[in-house]
Amino acid sequence: EQSERDSLFIVSDFAAKHYVQRLHHHEQGSIGQSYLKQRGLSANTIKKFELGYSLDEWTDLTDTALKAGYKQQYLEATGLTIVKEEGKKYDRFRGRVMFPIHNISGRVVGFGARTLKSNDKKSPKYLNSPESDIYHKSHVLYGLFQAKQAMRLQDMCYMVEGYLDVLSLFQGGIENVVASSGTSLTEGQIKLISRYTQNITVLYDGDAAGIKASLRGIDLILELGLNVNVVTFPEGEDPDSYIQKVGDTAFKTYLKEHAQDFISFKTSLYAKEAAGNPVKKAEAIKEVVASIAKIPDAIKRTVFFRSCSLIFDIDEQVLISEYNKMHLQGR
Ligand code: CTP
Ligand code: MN
Ligand code: MN
Ligand code: MN
Ligand code: MN
Repeated sequence: EQSERDSLFIVSDFAAKHYVQRLHHHEQGSIGQSYLKQRGLSANTIKKFELGYSLDEWTDLTDTALKAGYKQQYLEATGLTIVKEEGKKYDRFRGRVMFPIHNISGRVVGFGARTLKSNDKKSPKYLNSPESDIYHKSHVLYGLFQAKQAMRLQDMCYMVEGYLDVLSLFQGGIENVVASSGTSLTEGQIKLISRYTQNITVLYDGDAAGIKASLRGIDLILELGLNVNVVTFPEGEDPDSYIQKVGDTAFKTYLKEHAQDFISFKTSLYAKEAAGNPVKKAEAIKEVVASIAKIPDAIKRTVFFRSCSLIFDIDEQVLISEYNKMHLQGR
């Protein structure tokens, strides 16, 4: 017997194929195609990630699905169709490039959808599927299905913020890349990664929001016992814009030359303020110790205390007693 969840998988798969069909074989699809081309994506990438296009019509998907025998109940439960109180129905995604989101076994569980308008204040840049019985945002990573083999082979995972970041890096030959896509990194997402590798390199946008997000993400990764490195980008750039700007080879070199462990990252973040200011320096040290305190493994902690003491030129014992103090306070 078919379960409710099976029905949601089936209708999501139908929708993904429908959007692909619209992108390639509907006259309106050419708008989506030229947008993707302008973003630098190849036919190969578009195919590999099953990108599609939703027509700029109110009920294209809903009508097609109902006519083909799919039940409204499931279209509604996946959020593909929105049903108003009066019973009026319309498609959630209209006139957008569609990014299907796959679970770990490659089944479509939801969508991200980008508007083609560059600065429309009225509608959000990205719309996403709502949570459903098959789509739990905190337990899904965009690109994981396509990335998992490379993650195991390279024994490392690049974490980026957005759909386009995943696609551009993958196309540039960096296939071990996933995105948290719209949520801040969760424990469930890190546990998914840890099935394939214990090493994460965070590549967040070079803006204040991106740096903040990477700070929270780093502590969570450390807490779960994984290793974390960080690469920051010039202000205003994200991994996608940067690889499109400098090219694959220079981008890979940049990653190699700019990968920092979390201590150096946090240190350099606070260093500017800390220089010549003992109060700020003390704050910076406490920040770093707070991160080290999150590491469950005692040997790793010891190694990082050592490196922290060298960087800040401060006695290791002082750091360790600060750590003990934090523990007494229950941090
Ligand atoms: N996001 C979202 N809803 C928004 C804006 C962003 O869900 N209104 C999510 C998307 O997954 C997006 C990611 O956050 O990919 C990063 O956001 P941002 O950096 O603003 O977008 P980019 O991915 O860089 O988008 P683009 O390059 O297409 O402008
Ligand atoms: Mn859940
Ligand atoms: Mn951003
Ligand atoms: Mn971005
Ligand atoms: Mn971007």
